[in-house]
Amino acid sequence: MIITIWGSQHMAIQFSADFATNLHDENLRKNVLSTVGALCDAAKEISDLCAQGPLISGLGAVTGIENADGDDQKALDVQSDEIIIAKLRQEPVAYYASEEEEGINTLAPGAALSVAADPLDGSSNIDTNVSIGTIFSIFPTAPGAAENSFFRPGNEQLVGGFFVYGPQTTLIVTCGNGVELYVLEPKSGQFVLAVPKLRLAEARAEYGINAANARHWQTPVQLFISDCLTGEPGPLGENYNMRWVGSLVADASRILSRGGIFLYPADNRPGYEKGRLRQLYEANPVSFVIEQAGGMATNGTSRILDLPLSELHQRVAFVFGSNKQVELVRSYFKP
Ligand code: AHG
Ligand code: MN
Ligand code: MN
Repeated sequence: MIITIWGSQHMAIQFSADFATNLHDENLRKNVLSTVGALCDAAKEISDLCAQGPLISGLGAVTGIENADGDDQKALDVQSDEIIIAKLRQEPVAYYASEEEEGINTLAPGAALSVAADPLDGSSNIDTNVSIGTIFSIFPTAPGAAENSFFRPGNEQLVGGFFVYGPQTTLIVTCGNGVELYVLEPKSGQFVLAVPKLRLAEARAEYGINAANARHWQTPVQLFISDCLTGEPGPLGENYNMRWVGSLVADASRILSRGGIFLYPADNRPGYEKGRLRQLYEANPVSFVIEQAGGMATNGTSRILDLPLSELHQRVAFVFGSNKQVELVRSYFKP
């Protein structure tokens, strides 16, 4: 009989005593801890690469290839994907789906977990020394075809989270019993718990959207942003500030600590009819975190985590943040 001890030698994180305690099956919890630990190992390596920036030539260079979704693939996108897959091969992970790969990788058939990831989010910011990150979603492996583990609503996720490679390298993660924030401590090389119960700020009059697309937006989005710009004399009755990084992980991180609202709506450009961001490995895990922190995440009208999925790289309109503002946007969509 072959006994495999999953990933026990790869622990770059000091888990809190509460981590995943809502998973009552002890084996499942062990599998989750080991897999998140392996993702922390991967994130440390990716963070090191990001920190060296132009000292390593060509990180932000385009490979000349488009990824599964038609975006330019950068060298760091590909390296990050390879780092993650190498770590996950030693884990109880049956299937791995990635922004950078058209199809699903089979790793350890029959294993309990399946992982989807955006290995490097915000890759257009690689060369600019602006925060970028890795987003991940963990599902219990479903019986039958590999697709079954991913073609399901986000409310079936076991874990959702993301790493930010910024002034600090952080991990913001939830298993459905609240959100924890870890910081990679440079001296120990371990992710250490910094905020045990991260809560999203109540509301702040601040929005983030790529306003260069304004002419393509649907009318409800145009009206909401127009009212934000009008400020205090208008129907919203307060002056709005604007912040937009262009890396989802950094924008989500800011919303968690300051409140406000993020929008990447569907628009009228060809290919953007369903939005830009990907449901499986961008919107689902970020929504899980946002809801567990006390905020809301929708496609403008419906809860992201309830939406079914029928394509691996399916796009979705994404509106999330403080409850007050997400509800407000929803009211603009009502007929
Ligand atoms: P990725 O680099 O993984 O393709 O994701 C980039 C995403 C997201 O981080 C950001 O919110 C959005 O793309 C910005 O897109 P535009 O610059 O096209 O508006
Ligand atoms: Mn992304
Ligand atoms: Mn990416």
